[in-house]
Amino acid sequence: MIADHWPLFGLRLRTPRLELRVPDLADLGRLADLAAAGVHDPAAMPFVTAWTDTTGERRARSVLQWAWTQWGRWSPADWSLQLVAVADGQVIGTQDVNAKDFATVRVVGTGSWLGREHQGRGFGTEMRAAVLDLAFTGLGAEAATSEAFEDNDASYGVSRKLGYADDGTDWHAVRGRRVRGRRLLLDRPRWQAARTIDVEITGLEPCLPLFGLAGD
Ligand SMILES: CC(C)(COP(=O)(O)OP(=O)(O)OC[C@H]1O[C@@H](n2cnc3c(N)ncnc32)[C@H](O)[C@@H]1OP(=O)(O)O)[C@@H](O)C(=O)NCCC(=O)NCCS
Repeated sequence: MIADHWPLFGLRLRTPRLELRVPDLADLGRLADLAAAGVHDPAAMPFVTAWTDTTGERRARSVLQWAWTQWGRWSPADWSLQLVAVADGQVIGTQDVNAKDFATVRVVGTGSWLGREHQGRGFGTEMRAAVLDLAFTGLGAEAATSEAFEDNDASYGVSRKLGYADDGTDWHAVRGRRVRGRRLLLDRPRWQAARTIDVEITGLEPCLPLFGLAGD
């Protein structure tokens, strides 16, 4: 079975309305469908890499290749876990959690997007809460970082609800323009104080060596 060789396929995060899991090919196909339909208002660009600025067909293909790239380049010292969020049996978006030298540094970053029809209904908060629980409870993180452009109220709203504090500014070139990013930081005490969403984690134990946390 694939999970015997790549135990991340057996990992599940469950919140009141969502299941988060490593996508199989059918899940990836559904995520690609969502990307093809559009992830945001084309007038805005919420991502540092403007991967959505292309046709629906190419956007869909890039979702597949991005997922396969993350699988192929995984190492315990530098990993990016990309999960799909599933509500009522339907893939609604994706949430990642990533780290470099996690076993030593104990800091994770995150990234996410939802299909447009699923935005603004609290799912973004719920799926970020799920990977924060994986990071802090499951893996022993000490902090999580995030960043959103100053016009991205939804991403900033998720961070605010989950307890992140402002942590300075980064500047980016996006579509050839200078764009301000708001850096955010969530330490363990703030995470604990803001935590309101129940998260159940199963299938983690055999994955720990892949996160650099147990003898391999
Ligand atoms: C960012 C994203 C994942 C957030 O998920 P979401 O489900 O839409 O957000 P939530 O419904 O959980 O909202 C979280 C908070 O932000 C607020 N919020 C959400 N959308 C908002 C908007 N468009 N304008 C202002 N506030 C907004 C919500 O009101 C909520 O706060 P509240 O409960 O106090 O009212 C989602 O909107 C998305 O995929 N956007 C496009 C891609 C993107 O921007 N990705 C992140 C790049 S950094």
